[in-house]
Amino acid sequence: MPAKIITFSIQKGGSSKTTTSGIVSYLLSQDYRVLSVDLDPQGNLTELLTLRDVEEFRGMTVLEAMEEQDASGYICKISDTLHLLPAEDLLATFSRWLYNDYSGQEPALVLAQTLATVRDNYDYIIIDTAPALGDQTINALAASDYVVAMFEASKFCYSALGRFLKTCDEVRKLVNPDLRVAGILRGLIDARRSDNKVLIELVEEDYGDICFETVLTRNAAAGRVAIKGLFDNNEINVAVSQYKPFVEELMERVKD
Ligand SMILES: Nc1ncnc2c1ncn2[C@@H]1O[C@H](COP(=O)(O)OP(=O)(O)OP(=O)(O)O)[C@@H](O)[C@H]1O
Ligand SMILES: [Mg+2]
Repeated sequence: MPAKIITFSIQKGGSSKTTTSGIVSYLLSQDYRVLSVDLDPQGNLTELLTLRDVEEFRGMTVLEAMEEQDASGYICKISDTLHLLPAEDLLATFSRWLYNDYSGQEPALVLAQTLATVRDNYDYIIIDTAPALGDQTINALAASDYVVAMFEASKFCYSALGRFLKTCDEVRKLVNPDLRVAGILRGLIDARRSDNKVLIELVEEDYGDICFETVLTRNAAAGRVAIKGLFDNNEINVAVSQYKPFVEELMERVKD
């Protein structure tokens, strides 16, 4: 079976997209073969998974893979079962390449074609996106079977959510009829703030049928994964504990 492709996304910045896609990739890689795709020029997922300076990956990233429409030469092995297609700053030039030099059919399908070359080697492909609805994110949605909409409890993220789901509808209509919303993941919750509670409930009222039951609260150990990484991290069990019930829910929702 070819890999199931799952994108973690929302155009609002700082919504735990990278931390969640990194931890989910790590947890899934304990039982499955996983490819993590960093589709954000910030390269945060690359940094989180490798603890290396992203500039070291220049010329060996998802950008070059997309330019060749073949990922196979650009995969970095984090462990036997966790692989990474890295990103660094020059991924910001993707749109320029797409509209000046790409001569294929549909600009939104470049990533899908790129991943097709390696899809049979994995059980799951997890894509982390940039905080924008630009070409990279549209390509991620166009390549995916499922999308997890990330919600952090802020007014701006609440406003973004409806528009993000409409964007998913557009992508479904135009280029990827198979795209399904796996759900909305509510995270980065500060249990002491009543305004956080109000926003969480508002999302429940508006989108209750698609919200994941698991709601992730802010947790210092999870925040420190950016510093300590996922391997050789003495607090990794605390850092990932909240994510395990989420991964179980996710697996249930993406099993067909
Ligand atoms: N569960 C968590 N508990 C505490 N801190 C967290 C948690 N998840 C993420 N963080 C912290 O919150 C900040 C934003 O997280 P992250 O970088 O994962 O978000 P993002 O949506 O990928 O951001 P961007 O939009 O810039 O890509 C980071 O400093 C991260 O370490
Ligand atoms: Mg990020």
